[in-house]
Amino acid sequence: MKTIGVLTSGGDAPGMNAAIRAVVRTAIYNECKVYGIRRGFDGLINAKLEEMTLSSVADIIHRGGTMLQTARSDEFMTEAGRKKALNVLNVFNVDGLIVIGGDGSMTGASKLNDLGIPCIGVPGTIDNDLEYTDFTIGFDTAINTVVDAISKIRDTSSSHGRVNIVEVMGRRCGDIALYCGLAGGAESIVLPEMPHDIDKICRKIIRGKNRGKLHSLILLAEGAGSAVEMAKIIEEKTGMETRATILGHIQRGGSPTASDRILASHLAARAVELLLEGKNNRAVGIKCNEMVDIDITEALSMEKKLDMATYKLADILSI
Ligand code: F6P
Repeated sequence: MKTIGVLTSGGDAPGMNAAIRAVVRTAIYNECKVYGIRRGFDGLINAKLEEMTLSSVADIIHRGGTMLQTARSDEFMTEAGRKKALNVLNVFNVDGLIVIGGDGSMTGASKLNDLGIPCIGVPGTIDNDLEYTDFTIGFDTAINTVVDAISKIRDTSSSHGRVNIVEVMGRRCGDIALYCGLAGGAESIVLPEMPHDIDKICRKIIRGKNRGKLHSLILLAEGAGSAVEMAKIIEEKTGMETRATILGHIQRGGSPTASDRILASHLAARAVELLLEGKNNRAVGIKCNEMVDIDITEALSMEKKLDMATYKLADILSI
């Protein structure tokens, strides 16, 4: 293993820069050449490679986004697109590739691996939707951003005596809503993984109001419905003024938390080590505070499970 490529793909996540930095510096420490590939698999197809030096990754550990930029590539989904990507890697003599991204990016990594280029996946997504790892890079920063927003919404919500539905990202996974619901003291948490009963939610709101609560907060995962629609229904059923807040892409930005920087540094450095050990098609992650690596195909076949203990606790505490 002499030359390593690194790219970020799919939705960006805070901590991706810390991961790129760790790849580049671990590779150079081990006397490898590193190419940074701009704009994910799309950039790879279009040969957007540049050699990275120690100083290319200086002063990025604290920055959100990804200095390599990212994209979702339709062309790479095709066999012809992947062949073009393989040609570019061969022309630049790249012996191994590190892909930082979510499940779509891992799928891409595995497909390239099948074509003969050893690939390692590093989980970078705010969604925390990969079962094989307890946490993905970016999730901790995203939930801190959401909790901060919730505190601000509480201020205005209690001043007006309103109900507020906060819709958060996560695609089909409810982890952002679940963790932020618990940390933000939400009355109800609505997730794609669990059925919800709108009348039960309304009863909680009314009971709260009757015992003097100034406001109610509901955390809604985007995969479970629309905050605007839910606000209309709740206003109608409870007679309480209800507002919807869709937090959107603010959840993907900002300086990564210390936890995300540390997780990114460990996982990305491990990814380089795996390539140096001659491994391929592995996804790195963290389970019970231990670093793990697992076959990417197996990692992607695992169904993401809801953390039922946290869900139950949030329900009890919001009685
Ligand atoms: O996967 C990360 C994520 O932010 C999801 O939570 C969200 O559904 C999606 O990406 C939004 O994608 P885009 O930035 O392409 O609109």
